[in-house]
Amino acid sequence: MFITPIVGVVTFIWHGRIFDFGLFRLDFGVPSNRAVFRPMEDIHGYLAYALFALAGMHAAAALWHHFFMRNGVLGRMWPMREGAGTPVGENISAE
Ligand code: HEM
Repeated sequence: MFITPIVGVVTFIWHGRIFDFGLFRLDFGVPSNRAVFRPMEDIHGYLAYALFALAGMHAAAALWHHFFMRNGVLGRMWPMREGAGTPVGENISAE
């Protein structure tokens, strides 16, 4: 999760690009280096797709728990809902 954007930044910098935030610019003065940015770009892409797949599986598992196992896991993930933050194993509906 944290490595993906870090590798993205490495790809970006070794592409010879600069961060232009409008008010100021961040130029690392690194010349474009194909030997670095090419593999980094590939790794960044694979990590990003792995992250998307993980997010998708996480959402699918949450829906599985909600609709098939009916165990309140989704409710505990949902912020500002009854049972949010309840430790696993504690049945809120029994109270
Ligand atoms: C979690 C955060 C991020 C995700 C999920 C993400 C995702 C992606 C994806 C899906 C691609 C296209 C890969 C492909 O075509 O195979 C990409 C390309 C790229 N990303 Fe990221 N990215 C993230 C953060 C960043 C950051 C922080 C930077 C740098 C500031 C960055 C720089 C780049 C660059 C330079 C490319 C290549 C673009 C090009 O082809 O010109 N990424 N990113």
